[in-house]
Amino acid sequence: MSNVVVVGTQWGDEGKGKVVDLLTSRADLVVRFQGGNNAGHTLVVNGKQTICHLIPSGILHDGKKCLIGNGLVVDPEVLLEEIDTLIKEGIPVSPNNLSLSEKAHLIMPYHKAIDLAREEAKGKHKIGTTGRGIGPCYEDKAGRTGIRAIDLLEPDTLEEKIEQNLKEKNFYLTKFLGAQPLEFQPILDHYRAMEELLRPYIRDVSLEIDQAIRSGKQILFEGAQGTHLDIDHGTYPFVTSSNPVSGAACAGAGVGPDKLHHINGIVKAYTTRVGSGPFPTELLDKTGDYIQEKGAEFGATTGRRRRCGWLDLLMVRDSVRFNGLTSLSITKLDVLTGLEKLKICVGYELQGKRIDSRPASLKMLAQCIPVYEELPGWHDDISDAREIDRLPRETRDYLKKIEEITEVPLSIISVGPMREQTIMIRDPF
Ligand code: IMP
Repeated sequence: MSNVVVVGTQWGDEGKGKVVDLLTSRADLVVRFQGGNNAGHTLVVNGKQTICHLIPSGILHDGKKCLIGNGLVVDPEVLLEEIDTLIKEGIPVSPNNLSLSEKAHLIMPYHKAIDLAREEAKGKHKIGTTGRGIGPCYEDKAGRTGIRAIDLLEPDTLEEKIEQNLKEKNFYLTKFLGAQPLEFQPILDHYRAMEELLRPYIRDVSLEIDQAIRSGKQILFEGAQGTHLDIDHGTYPFVTSSNPVSGAACAGAGVGPDKLHHINGIVKAYTTRVGSGPFPTELLDKTGDYIQEKGAEFGATTGRRRRCGWLDLLMVRDSVRFNGLTSLSITKLDVLTGLEKLKICVGYELQGKRIDSRPASLKMLAQCIPVYEELPGWHDDISDAREIDRLPRETRDYLKKIEEITEVPLSIISVGPMREQTIMIRDPF
């Protein structure tokens, strides 16, 4: 029996959804441990596309249980909407296959209002957040004023907390950010009404995972965002407010590190980023446009065009270290088909010296020049390949270079969006 953690090694949007979907068939429980509805994965239900932001995609598989860990910040309105949409599409969502941790923090209307007003006030210095209130909610968690799922079940605690918080938030919204204040009663009524619907889902998720492990079940921990959006290890301050690294699965789900057996890092065959922040291998030319269009690189949550660039293996090597990656999955390899030459960044040059990990200072990072190795591209369609030997030599050389530089074995290669467009080298379970 083993458990697997799947994490993004870049700035999110690595195509984790497809790998998680594949691995779900081998898991009994699928657990999210950080982030919130800033993430998004596209699900195809009865031929119709649905985007889920909170509920793990495992919900589409019969007999799998999906858990929302304590490390998430949950917008209850979004969660209820997702449950409703899936049920309308004929997917049975109930407390039998979905749990919400009683310790997860709730996104409140003032978190969203602050997120939006603050970004507006920052103008060209904005982070480019998803505007979902993620950062302000995590701030309250760290500031010990947050409202947790369990508080929904205690009407007096809920009322008291909303009242206290709102006084402070309205002061900040109006006096500092120049935004509109929010009214107390509608918020209280709305959250009280949602309590009734959410109550059956609110549980001790850590205990549920422990019981599952004791009865021989396998767990898949599903990371959101990516390592370089990590609040500690990412391109701070252009990061999200949680820890998308694998170790966060412990704190964010309530399990010990001995329960994490395999850590699979998802590497998109090139690099993308949404929102602001440094991006050393960014392509601001026709090649960047080609990748953006061919890879349909638009954010699943905000619909923003993703910035595109060459594969940056210095970043991925940093991710290997931060996460303890035991295997890599390469996604969207087919998008690179047709390019004459491919570049892979293998390190940076800073003030005339070669460096092999990203400097913490953004000023230093701005001075870094990517060191590239150039490889020949391939033209043959690779989307029908199901074995590594069926790939053109140039494609195999590209993959070999990734393995050589990262020193981590490859496990899954995705050559197209469909489930079957996959080369399984070794199963991370
Ligand atoms: P926040 O998480 O909404 O606070 O946004 C902070 C930064 O993280 C912004 O640059 C967002 O675009 C980025 N971000 C948040 N979630 C995702 C994601 O799931 N994929 C890619 N970028 C994300």
